[in-house]
Amino acid sequence: MGTGMKVVAVNGSPRKKGNTQDILEAAAGELGPQGIEVEFVSLAENVVRPCTGCERCYKKAWDCPIEDDGVAVLRKMASANGLLVASPVYFGGVTAQLKALIDRSVMAYTDTEFKDKVAGGLSVGGGKHGGQELAVWQIATFCVTHDMIYINPEGGVGGAMATGNDMGDVRSDSDGLESAKRLGRRMAEVLKARRGPG
Ligand SMILES: Cc1cc2nc3c(=O)[nH]c(=O)nc-3n(C[C@H](O)[C@H](O)[C@H](O)COP(=O)(O)O)c2cc1C
Repeated sequence: MGTGMKVVAVNGSPRKKGNTQDILEAAAGELGPQGIEVEFVSLAENVVRPCTGCERCYKKAWDCPIEDDGVAVLRKMASANGLLVASPVYFGGVTAQLKALIDRSVMAYTDTEFKDKVAGGLSVGGGKHGGQELAVWQIATFCVTHDMIYINPEGGVGGAMATGNDMGDVRSDSDGLESAKRLGRRMAEVLKARRGPG
């Protein structure tokens, strides 16, 4: 039965159907059966340019002069109960595409629209020790700066992490996929606990 709750799953990779999408889908697969809807947003399909620091949104939330998909993506995220934010590891951090979205989210900072959302981070790197932790903690920093409720997958520290280089590689990383599933289960648990009985 539907709960009426929704999670927006942001894929920060410029490859729409790559490893990051695979781990996001592993996490999302735990939400549907719990009656929680998931909507995917790909930064391969949505153009979000970097913040120019004009500070217009400091005076009026959401007032951003950049004409691209940034406002629409952030509005979609702001309308969700929960957020899953995922990135490939690029040079030990998140992609430039995701960092641009993170910086542009300053437009929602003054009206605190992200406050109290349940949020989880995921990353995939080509190397086993390729900087996945740095990338998930960068996502965690974004979430806690907005006063979101940042969750952790059981047995992990900071987020779900996986290994895979070529597209599809991550499907053979059973530990990585399991960490994503644990994050999805934790997301469902926290969302339901916050909603209360019924
Ligand atoms: C520009 C660039 C930088 C990368 N830097 C790293 C890195 O620092 N550590 C790592 O483990 N993998 C690195 N990778 C590999 C990607 O993280 C890996 O291929 C990942 O699976 C891509 O996810 P996707 O299929 O969702 O795009 C890099 C790839 C690119 C293109």
